[in-house]
Amino acid sequence: MAIQRTLSIIKPDAVAKNVIGDIIRRFEENGLSVIATRMTHLSAEQAGRFYAVHKERPFYKDLCKFMSSGPILAMTLEGSNAVNLNRQLMGATNPKEAEEGTIRADHANSIDANAVHGSDSEENAGIEISFFFGDLDLNSRL
Ligand code: CMP
Repeated sequence: MAIQRTLSIIKPDAVAKNVIGDIIRRFEENGLSVIATRMTHLSAEQAGRFYAVHKERPFYKDLCKFMSSGPILAMTLEGSNAVNLNRQLMGATNPKEAEEGTIRADHANSIDANAVHGSDSEENAGIEISFFFGDLDLNSRL
């Protein structure tokens, strides 16, 4: 499997629940390495730019409001098959559909407050990583 990088965001609900450590533990125990981290509190405008791909969706406004409601932890993960592996560890977007043992099954309350975000493709990972991080922030662990 190819080595990839992907963007993970621990969302305001999971930061508020103090489960940052539990989420990062799951990444590390499954072969993903953290190569950059940044805690920040997005403005609604910044959240809107990050999620611009969803601009026309009915949930866009609520999503931007939620993502700017408190601090988040953005990080870049590196490892074999990182994009899909991260998605498997997160579980389905809607926590009601998330498989047992996934991050969202264990920590998410609703489809908006769903604990984590992860890039959905390698192409989008590149775009999303550069939203939060510059080249000098990325510290390969290979
Ligand atoms: P995320 O992986 O961060 O990507 C977009 C977010 O929009 C998603 O997780 C959900 O938190 C939120 N969202 C709200 N409603 C929906 C929906 N019907 N379908 C997909 N995503 C939704």
